Amino acid sequence: MGVGNAGRIDPWSSEQSTDYARIRDQFGLESLDLTQVPNPSMLHRRGIIFAHRDLDVVTGCIERSDPFGVLTGLMPSGRMHLGHSMVIEQVRWFQEQGADITVTVADLEALATRGTSLVEGRKTALKEYVHNYAALGLNPENTNVYFQSGRPEVQRLAFTLGRRTNLSEFEAIYGFKGETNLAHVQAPLIQVGDIIHPQLDEFGGLRPIVVPVGVDQDPHLRLTRGIAGKTHWFNVKPRKAGGLRVSLSVQNSNSEAFGVSTDGKVDREIRNSIFERLIGSLSPIGYSDLISNPKHGTLDIPGAKNSDIAQVRMCLLRLEREMGGMGLMPPSSTYHRFAMGLTGDKMSSSKPKTTIFMDDSIEDMSKKVKRALSGGQPTIEEHRRLGGDCSKDVSFQYLQFFFEDDDSELTKIARDYESGKLLAGEMKQICIDRASEWLSDLADKRDMWDGRLEEFLAPDAR
Ligand code: TRP
Repeated sequence: MGVGNAGRIDPWSSEQSTDYARIRDQFGLESLDLTQVPNPSMLHRRGIIFAHRDLDVVTGCIERSDPFGVLTGLMPSGRMHLGHSMVIEQVRWFQEQGADITVTVADLEALATRGTSLVEGRKTALKEYVHNYAALGLNPENTNVYFQSGRPEVQRLAFTLGRRTNLSEFEAIYGFKGETNLAHVQAPLIQVGDIIHPQLDEFGGLRPIVVPVGVDQDPHLRLTRGIAGKTHWFNVKPRKAGGLRVSLSVQNSNSEAFGVSTDGKVDREIRNSIFERLIGSLSPIGYSDLISNPKHGTLDIPGAKNSDIAQVRMCLLRLEREMGGMGLMPPSSTYHRFAMGLTGDKMSSSKPKTTIFMDDSIEDMSKKVKRALSGGQPTIEEHRRLGGDCSKDVSFQYLQFFFEDDDSELTKIARDYESGKLLAGEMKQICIDRASEWLSDLADKRDMWDGRLEEFLAPDAR
């Protein structure tokens, strides 16, 4: 991911910016507050998942045992490597907290941006990705893998929602230009369809959806959230005097339902009945005081807290659907840091020396780790005196990101390295030992799932 011209993020770039604080601030991501996360996973505890959008919507669902879903996607090209496993760890964690899981095979995107045929994409998706997702512990019971090319509802949404954006926005977000291939322009809209469609009635209905990603995918989330917001019939915002304000968003698609005639006149009876329904729709939350102003199209809830927005919005979206609108919850998202490549470059399937593949042999993995960038000093004498640098040491980082889930053990390794007690070669050996266990465990589990991958596939993907 390059953060290149005009400070844009290019999701298809092979470069990667790691200035996470800048990205967070520039694009308005919220910092992850650990105390907000129930049963935090290793990736949360270690600050590897560092930012989010609207994660409180999802943690609220976890606390109340309300339904919510996770949507994730994979590019069916190349081989699955360690870098890809981070999102799946998060997906598994969300699943343990009660989420249902939808997995997009982005076969249309791979065709559009890499020229991968649909047949090839399907093979790669199952063999490289779904098989390893199974081995990493996703539960097939409520996991649904589907193909973009095989789900017309996703493509239909891409068209329907495409009406809510335009070329200027695509230029601003993605830097698309006159010579940009049109298949490439369609890919983000398909991804909007991917992210939104689990909320359709036939795919689980209205519920919050969270999308765990690396920051390179944030442009798609910004686009999707913006588009979802534009479809809303009711907006909800904090009110200056405290509490929340709901306001009608009158647009072509709802002016009749909202009692606005073509000459702009408001039918009072219709408007009043809408406000009755509006008040009724909020009654489950139980606010004692609602101030309605049908003429201005606003309803104030002085007693509501800002943190109630998600619940109020769910009520409004339910009502919107009853009235004939789409009723789409903007997706939540989480962002993880990228693990350094073995060579110090970005991890990439097309550069085998930069990463460890899920099915690398122990021998290949060991060779790569032995050659990896280290934070050790040039001589043993200096190392003993100055200590190693964990922040530059790939082996340490891989223990931290992937292989050592015991926090106290990791802290001890860091302390010994930084004090000079542990040498660079010894750090590498620890990494190799843990990685060997990890890889052979994964291989065993892959064997267990051999020939059973159908269990993960949605009916339209079989
Ligand atoms: N664009 C993603 C990638 O390059 C794949 C993808 C398609 C995706 N649809 C998605 C990821 C929805 C997350 C959510 O890997």
